[in-house]
Amino acid sequence: MTRFQAAEWKLLTDLIQDRFGLTFDGVRCEILESRLEPRLRELHLGSLSDYYRFLRFHPEGDAELGRLTPLITNNETYFFREAHHFDILVRRIVPDLRSALRTRPLRILSAACSSGEEPYSIVIALQNGGLELAGVRWEIDACDLNPERVAQARRGLYDAGSLRACDGEARRRYFRESGGRFELRERYRTGVRFFEANLLAPNGSFGWGSYDAIFCRNMLIYFGEEAFDGVIGLFARSLAPGGYLLLGHSESLLDRATELLPVSFGTGVVYRKRLSD
Ligand SMILES: C[S@@+](CC[C@H](N)C(=O)[O-])C[C@H]1O[C@@H](n2cnc3c(N)ncnc32)[C@H](O)[C@@H]1O
Repeated sequence: MTRFQAAEWKLLTDLIQDRFGLTFDGVRCEILESRLEPRLRELHLGSLSDYYRFLRFHPEGDAELGRLTPLITNNETYFFREAHHFDILVRRIVPDLRSALRTRPLRILSAACSSGEEPYSIVIALQNGGLELAGVRWEIDACDLNPERVAQARRGLYDAGSLRACDGEARRRYFRESGGRFELRERYRTGVRFFEANLLAPNGSFGWGSYDAIFCRNMLIYFGEEAFDGVIGLFARSLAPGGYLLLGHSESLLDRATELLPVSFGTGVVYRKRLSD
């Protein structure tokens, strides 16, 4: 149940969808309402329509939209989530690139990386796969909409929940425990660059036509159709020829018109850009 009118919700959620791609249905609106109430009180605004007008027309409206991002995003993530993808990267994608990687780094984008568990899991997988010893260098761009999560990613400090898929041995090897929290060891941070980005309005931080692999997992499930297709178009442009896109288990391109082609590696389907036009 929500105390606001359906029409007010529509104004606000249409604006959010337009700017950030995210959609809100009944339950998600109730969660959003409880998160928004304190902010409305702070701004002395009595209704969602007032808040909508503030976002649209107040001189501080754009800054307020930025403040909204921690409230509208679900940032759930953990180390080695959907672990088969890290295996596909190390065992299937990288070996095909071996001769190119003698002269250039492996380039990866972790899009919607939340607090960094995903890009750091990639580094750990590459280290464990012996790539560093083999002289392969990598550059991992990692971005998210929520600035609080990006700041946490840079700190590399985690609660036990983020390590739920790590056994005791993995905890000891990859983290330094202190006061019930876990700090990622320095060697597993190599080559990762974090930045804030809205995938619906990408700025100059992305590489164009340059990524060998893009991980974008568990974000598109919250996106409307138009935003979904727009972001897939962005990824298609950002991938190098022959580059791969890895989506979360509930996300699929199989019923969409896209230039990315499905490839099955046994443990899962990923998508690939053609090697040449
Ligand atoms: C559920 S988390 C997924 C984290 C990680 N990829 C994983 O699979 O564990 C979804 C992330 O998408 C981010 N996100 C949502 N909309 C976004 C947008 N328009 N641009 C960039 N990131 C966005 C959220 O801030 C959130 O951290």
